[in-house]
Amino acid sequence: MTVIKRIRAEQTYPLRQEILRPHRPAVECRFPNDFDDTTAHFGALDSGRIVGILSVYLASNEQLGIAHSWQLRAMATSEDHRGKGLGLRLLEAAESYVSAQGGKCIWANARLHALGFYKKAGYAAHGERFHIAHVGPHVLVTRMLN
Ligand SMILES: CC(C)(COP(=O)(O)OP(=O)(O)OC[C@H]1O[C@@H](n2cnc3c(N)ncnc32)[C@H](O)[C@@H]1OP(=O)(O)O)[C@@H](O)C(=O)NCCC(=O)NCCS
Repeated sequence: MTVIKRIRAEQTYPLRQEILRPHRPAVECRFPNDFDDTTAHFGALDSGRIVGILSVYLASNEQLGIAHSWQLRAMATSEDHRGKGLGLRLLEAAESYVSAQGGKCIWANARLHALGFYKKAGYAAHGERFHIAHVGPHVLVTRMLN
């Protein structure tokens, strides 16, 4: 059985590297706000092995102009664990955390090929597509929490 739980920033780095930043320097997998008090990292663990990751940061977004919004980053599940609902479970864990902090708005710079996944989870796309160097085309997605 796969469980979703809080993990430490360092535990996310191997999957960040393997799935999200292959062929890039390891330092690019360490984000500036990883160790902020408000930051939370979630893992999907299958028999102790981390097979999915997601991090969430207190971060405003100029385009949205909403105070106290939260950013999702580094969403990934291992190839052999995709299509089993782990991505959605990780999103739910992050959203519950944000709600518990009083947050109302979550956003992410979504990779274009993952847009369908975010839409399934209730996120809406905004504005123009944009390119992030070494990663590819993205679009801003948001979800308001109750
Ligand atoms: C995107 C990703 C995290 C999805 O993880 P997952 O564990 O396979 O997602 P789930 O199994 O929870 O999928 C939930 C639903 O979204 C759908 N879905 C998943 N990925 C999708 C995609 N890329 N496009 C469209 N729909 C997608 C699933 O089919 C499923 O729909 P269903 O409930 O009708 O069957 C995973 O494919 C991944 O790690 N991709 C590579 C890294 C990446 O692009 N991360 C996103 C960075 S913004």
